[in-house]
Amino acid sequence: MDDVKYRQNLKKKIEKLKKERNAVIIVHNYQRDEIQDIADISGDSLALSQAAVRADAKVIVFCGVDFMAESASILNPNKIVLLPVKEAGCPMADMVTVERLRDKKKEHPDAAIVCYVNSSATIKAESDICCTSSNAIQVVKSLKDYKEIIFIPDKNLGRYVQANVPDKKIILWEGFCPTHIRVSKEEILDAKKLHPDVLVLAHPECNPDVLFVSDHICSTAGMFKFAKASKAKSFIIATESGMLYGLKKANPDKDFYVPTERLVCPTMKLTTLGWVAHSLENMEHQIKITGEIKEKAYKSLARMLKVSGEKSGAAISGV
Ligand code: 13P
Ligand code: SF4
Repeated sequence: MDDVKYRQNLKKKIEKLKKERNAVIIVHNYQRDEIQDIADISGDSLALSQAAVRADAKVIVFCGVDFMAESASILNPNKIVLLPVKEAGCPMADMVTVERLRDKKKEHPDAAIVCYVNSSATIKAESDICCTSSNAIQVVKSLKDYKEIIFIPDKNLGRYVQANVPDKKIILWEGFCPTHIRVSKEEILDAKKLHPDVLVLAHPECNPDVLFVSDHICSTAGMFKFAKASKAKSFIIATESGMLYGLKKANPDKDFYVPTERLVCPTMKLTTLGWVAHSLENMEHQIKITGEIKEKAYKSLARMLKVSGEKSGAAISGV
């Protein structure tokens, strides 16, 4: 069987299983092209958390990485959340441990802990509030009673927040995204020379010198919004290369380039059509967070959703 036929068959199988299981497929913007094609809902981390709250299906198949599926489960304790590939993790999320975070809190007892959603449920449970790349500034500004913020785990996002919220002291954590730090300022400048009149859109997980030479800094959903509204015809995209597929599809009259081929997140690419079909067929891998961790992590996530204007009572009760 050729590759096209094989994929068509898998898509049909997924469609059938989805109906039988009463499932919805939620897909992050960095996923493979063929996974984006089967998405019921796609978006950035914030949009996907909000979508998980609103989903009325029984089963959520989360095509992304594990911290995203964990958040979906925490916000939807009565639904079955499936992560098609168990090993799809986020290395940045593993750069913080509860013990080290507690030590940091002892050093800064008056600081609030703001936790990027790229973190485990245990770390979310230790934190005061979560944030994503699209609402980090808004979340930190919302903490009116705090002058000091321990921002975990991404130091680049933390620095970006500091630059935008100068009246608070951001205590940085030594975490980073191994994919986003691969792009250099020189590569951005070289790409700009190749494509005149181009605008550079960068994710705040990139290094500060890359952000400095960029025209607009935003989350992956922010890139969609910006590219659609902009009069510019071509863009350099300084984030994971999976973004190009969706951006080109949504803006067929515009051009999008990555500054380097190295902008690939290996764990985001683990999910394939075969694994999605397998996941629905075998109801694997079920992600369930329970007990005290779930209760506390729920509060941190729900506080964030409240700051972002999420109206759904399902998510924001009791915070
Ligand atoms: P977004 O929230 O912008 O989609 O980013 C998620 C992520 O993992 C970035 O590396
Ligand atoms: Fe984690 Fe970076 Fe991959 Fe995003 S791109 S999931 S931060 S490793």
